[in-house]
Amino acid sequence: TAAMASRALNLFTICRRQFGTTGSLASKVAVLGASGGIGQPLSLLLKQSPLVSQLSLYDIQGVKGVAADLSHISTKAEVSGFDGPASLSDCLKGSRVVVIPAGVPRKPGMTRDDLFNTNAGIVADLITAVAKTCPKAMICIVTNPVNSTVPIAAEILKKHNAYDPRRLFGVTTLDIVRSNAFVAEAKGLDVSKVSVPVIGGHSGVTIIPVISQAVPSVSFKAQDRETLTTRIQNAGTEVVNAKAGAGSATLSMAFAAEKFVDSVLQAIDGKRGVIECAFVESTVTEAPYFSTPLLLGRDGVEENLGLGNLIEFEAKLLQAAMPELQQNIAKGVKFVKERY
Ligand code: NAI
Repeated sequence: TAAMASRALNLFTICRRQFGTTGSLASKVAVLGASGGIGQPLSLLLKQSPLVSQLSLYDIQGVKGVAADLSHISTKAEVSGFDGPASLSDCLKGSRVVVIPAGVPRKPGMTRDDLFNTNAGIVADLITAVAKTCPKAMICIVTNPVNSTVPIAAEILKKHNAYDPRRLFGVTTLDIVRSNAFVAEAKGLDVSKVSVPVIGGHSGVTIIPVISQAVPSVSFKAQDRETLTTRIQNAGTEVVNAKAGAGSATLSMAFAAEKFVDSVLQAIDGKRGVIECAFVESTVTEAPYFSTPLLLGRDGVEENLGLGNLIEFEAKLLQAAMPELQQNIAKGVKFVKERY
């Protein structure tokens, strides 16, 4: 029996080595809009993740080529491409995580809300398929205007009895990535160690960087804090203007979306203490959806960590964000009520 016990222990050690101390099951991840400016580099980054077993790529054009190309990369994730609506449910079948960067991006002079008419319907249709095919998936919405597309997704999921607020996220990670980069640059810090929460929504004044809660803590003169805040709020437009009609942020967005999806996958895999900001259903403010730091677990949001302490300047930003945020949310809800 001593020999048996020792063999069992050895087997256990081997298993732990092979599968890690947390979970063991890599997940199927679907990317909807995978041929696009964000979709392609995002799929490339996800192809490198050891937490992805299958990478299922969907678009209404050009996705077979993207899938063939990525499938030659010598990493574990198995890649398949699905072209057009008839193949959407095959793409989604069995997905643990669905990331949605499908839809049109901004051109100079446009606000994110200007994308509503085109992108609202795209998100509604894609989410309908998710509700029918993989209702338990974690859904990460990149498509703008995020302040409206998340409520749209929630309303569609409710209609199919498939809504779980713990599993629906608007991806705001790019705002955090930008804040980390800009704060590190301004203060000469190692950017890999900088973490700035960003709360609220994902458009203009609804983007609320909480620099007072940055780790490590940093201090700014009032004027510099204001300039930096405005730059973070308008950083998307900086890229739109620099691309001069060729689209909006794609590479930094792909990085940000992969970072967020990786955190979701780590949490699914059993890692404890995973925290990300995202735009979710919320009771933290009077807005029914709001982004704050969230503790993620196997089933999605485990705990909303709330606003924390805001300095007066940030409390004013919060006040200024509310009307636009509430309007964007109401517009999304109304769209589904009237059309579906
Ligand atoms: P893109 O135009 O380069 O790519 C969009 C892709 O979606 C295209 O391949 C297109 O064929 C596909 N598509 C269109 N309708 C579809 C449908 N019904 N089903 C599946 N695929 C469909 O645009 P890009 O630059 O990749 O941006 C995508 C979205 O991401 C835009 O709405 C943009 O505003 C948003 N975005 C969000 C950010 C965020 O922080 N959450 C940051 C940057 C962009």
